[in-house]
Amino acid sequence: TRVDKAGHKHFMSKEIAEQPTVVSETLAAYIANDAGGINLPGDGFDFTKVNRIVMASCGTAYYACLTAKYWFEQLAELPVEVDFASEFRYRTPPVTDGTAAIFVSQSGETADTLAALRYCAGRASAILSVTNVPESSIARESDLNLPIFAGAEIGVASTKAFTCQLTVLLLLALKAAHARGKMSDDTLRAKLAALRGLPAIMNQAMAIEDGVRGIAQRLAKSRDALFLGRGVMFPLALEGALKLKEISYIHAEAYASGELKHGPIALIDEAMPVVVMAPKDALFDKTVSNMQEVMARGGKVILVTDAAGAEEASEGVWHTIILPDIDNEIAPILYALPVQYLAYHTAVAKGTDVDQPRNLAKSVTVE
Ligand code: G6P
Repeated sequence: TRVDKAGHKHFMSKEIAEQPTVVSETLAAYIANDAGGINLPGDGFDFTKVNRIVMASCGTAYYACLTAKYWFEQLAELPVEVDFASEFRYRTPPVTDGTAAIFVSQSGETADTLAALRYCAGRASAILSVTNVPESSIARESDLNLPIFAGAEIGVASTKAFTCQLTVLLLLALKAAHARGKMSDDTLRAKLAALRGLPAIMNQAMAIEDGVRGIAQRLAKSRDALFLGRGVMFPLALEGALKLKEISYIHAEAYASGELKHGPIALIDEAMPVVVMAPKDALFDKTVSNMQEVMARGGKVILVTDAAGAEEASEGVWHTIILPDIDNEIAPILYALPVQYLAYHTAVAKGTDVDQPRNLAKSVTVE
């Protein structure tokens, strides 16, 4: 089937805009009914049979895994190890019975991820994968493949595949939590109801685009940028830095907010924009205090938060991006939007080749 830009200037812009729709389709494929069932394909998977999860992936898919680690650990009380597939495959990690190995890959063909999967075959209790291509090698070689329903993704920088991967991984973590007796029927039902509301909230959140376009005009003049976040916002900060460097060629790094004082604070001056990802959750005050350390040294803060967070902490910041309120667990999926828009509009402002950034490939099938 031919895929066109549907009136958008770039595939990336079209794919960002499609997210409420494809996330909604992904939810519909997995959520059985309002009573709270989560349907997995085939015979599903019994999370009471494992006591550990290992995950290995590359690029944006790796950051989806890193986010899922917080979910599996906090909701299902399952320890999770996450690694780059290229590291995992060569460090002979002990993978034993009782381990579920989960591989996330948009294409399902990334060479390192496939090699990591093959290493786990015969060692782990089960091989699960989350892919956008059901016929792919990674999907075919898994015991259970979980499709993401993102549709064809053309832009080299992944956007809608990332939010759909997160959606499936959150559903999987909820399933695991419930199966392992860590979450009641009522809580699961409430969390699924909240998740069903996500596409509408994403739609609403797209109102930030105009503001972000303005911020991007200024970000485009920077040589470097720093992204900070805590908890589930840390992987989102990493994804934000990756997106920005991939398509705008601005050097960007991400740090866990608490690590600021152990290095990156030395880089802060008036020329350094710092994107702070901080919804008003339990870690908000901690992150805000890191943000204030940045501002005290002249750093220009772009605060990404919700209305309550903005009310409390936006004084003195360079720019604030305000997202609708959302459940803490679901927040990482919503907070993908501002980092995608920031990278996209900064790249457009710089005039780079957004859909085909230099030196990058959509799918890396050779080592
Ligand atoms: C390449 C792409 C990224 C992608 C990564 C992993 O680097 O440019 O967008 O995240 O590969 O690809 P996969 O298909 O395994 O998700």
